[in-house]
Amino acid sequence: MTSKRKSKPTKAKGKAEDRVIIFDTTLRDGEQSPGASMTLEEKLQVAEMLDEMGVDVIEAGFPIASNGDFEAVSEIAKVAKNAVVAGLARAGNKDIDRAGEAVKHAKRPRVHTFISTSPVHMKYKLQMESSAVLDAVTSSVQRARTYTDDVEWSAEDATRTEHDFLCRCVEAAIKAGATTINIPDTVGYSVPDEYHDLIRMLIEKVPGGDNVIFSTHCHNDLGLAVANSLAGVRAGARQIECTINGIGERAGNAALEEIIMAKNVRNDVIPHWNDVDPEMITRASKLVAGVTAFPVQYNKAIVGKNAFAHESGIHQDGMLKNNQTYEIMTPESVGLKESSLVMGKHSGRHAFREKLKEMGYELGENAFEDAFVRFKDLADKKKHVFDEDIEALVDDEMASADDRIKVVALTVIAGTGGPQKATITLNVDGTQHTREAGGDGPVDAIFNAIKDIVPHEARLPLYQVHAVTEGTDAQAEVSVRLEEAGKTVTGRGADTDTMVASARAYVSALNKLRVKRKKTAPKSMMAS
Ligand code: KIV
Ligand code: ZN
Repeated sequence: MTSKRKSKPTKAKGKAEDRVIIFDTTLRDGEQSPGASMTLEEKLQVAEMLDEMGVDVIEAGFPIASNGDFEAVSEIAKVAKNAVVAGLARAGNKDIDRAGEAVKHAKRPRVHTFISTSPVHMKYKLQMESSAVLDAVTSSVQRARTYTDDVEWSAEDATRTEHDFLCRCVEAAIKAGATTINIPDTVGYSVPDEYHDLIRMLIEKVPGGDNVIFSTHCHNDLGLAVANSLAGVRAGARQIECTINGIGERAGNAALEEIIMAKNVRNDVIPHWNDVDPEMITRASKLVAGVTAFPVQYNKAIVGKNAFAHESGIHQDGMLKNNQTYEIMTPESVGLKESSLVMGKHSGRHAFREKLKEMGYELGENAFEDAFVRFKDLADKKKHVFDEDIEALVDDEMASADDRIKVVALTVIAGTGGPQKATITLNVDGTQHTREAGGDGPVDAIFNAIKDIVPHEARLPLYQVHAVTEGTDAQAEVSVRLEEAGKTVTGRGADTDTMVASARAYVSALNKLRVKRKKTAPKSMMAS
């Protein structure tokens, strides 16, 4: 099943020298956070959204890491319409060749190569002398240039690197042909003034520094990632590396939505501009939170559930008089619309089609029919169907359209009396199987019954439920993460019955695991 959402053209340009490149690394650094791994289809969905949104560069993955990563980067390279597609590589030839191969079909390919430059990384991680690191900078950039003219070089742990050595490395990278120089605050150690001065020093001091784009890549360990990125731009950097919802290693990366809205709301002091459509922020945030099952913190700036909520009486009173009393940006400016009542069980095909259109979904005929059947079913169970319900339903339907295991029927016995039992019927590759099992509670019983039909050794590190809307008849959206032999997948399921949603989510994760099992990296490709 395919769906496409339409985005609006962007506006608000500024001076050419103030243009800042938005480099999104949700699919690489973001996906590196424990448990955030995505399937190929999910990565394509996210990449398509980023491309439509107006992101300039999509870092699609780390091609040497696995066959799956290589395939994802290369598929994204084929489908990206506007964005540059970058593949990450360490300084070794194999890494760079793999990245070069993966991005070769992109309209605008980029190879991004990196090596650590700080004393602690060189000594303990690389076990290399600084002279060898310097040589590797030159050779890696030169090799990357044999694949594309667009080569980015990063000094991993740059903010803990001795300045003289960092200058020599940056100079070597520029001489070897790097066009973008990235200065990562890999461990989120820097503070804004210091990061500003570092970028300014490099631009001013390194020969050729005025002919390349300097880039920021800030981690959020001290909660300063966005502030540091903006300080870097003030110092002359013209690329910001960031992720949707700020996901990434440890405390994450600079959040794209915060960068975009900081410059939109405070354009008086941040005159920099880009082509990202801010009205797509909410949708992108929900998509990434959904496919990774990484919930967004309630009070997260811009995209948190409470970011535009006004709870106290004084604030509500002020808002009723004039929304500027407590709102520096409108929810609409980031694509957040008032939850609207959609329709009920009497709504027909036409109204449903119109609603999907208004929400930005473009479904093919078969996909539309499947979604309509599920909508009618939902409207029978739930009096009021909201936008969020439709969204959960269509997303769930899309995610499971090609699944080879499907939930057919489920009966659960739960309650204080016990024992809790579940009887489930699954369709596996066209054949129906029914099993009954007990467990520590109804969810455990359901999962045991499923495991009886589809035996596996996967661990279950995450089971998460959230209500799509308010009220006791709300749909439950369940996420289930499974981990098997180093592979992680996340399945989702939505239903007004939490148990059915749980079964769907578990089965969805199993379907994804089946696909992942087929993609095992050959030895020659394993990272050393
Ligand atoms: O944080 C970091 O240093 C990185 C580099 C690989 C760019 O992610
Ligand atoms: Zn990083």
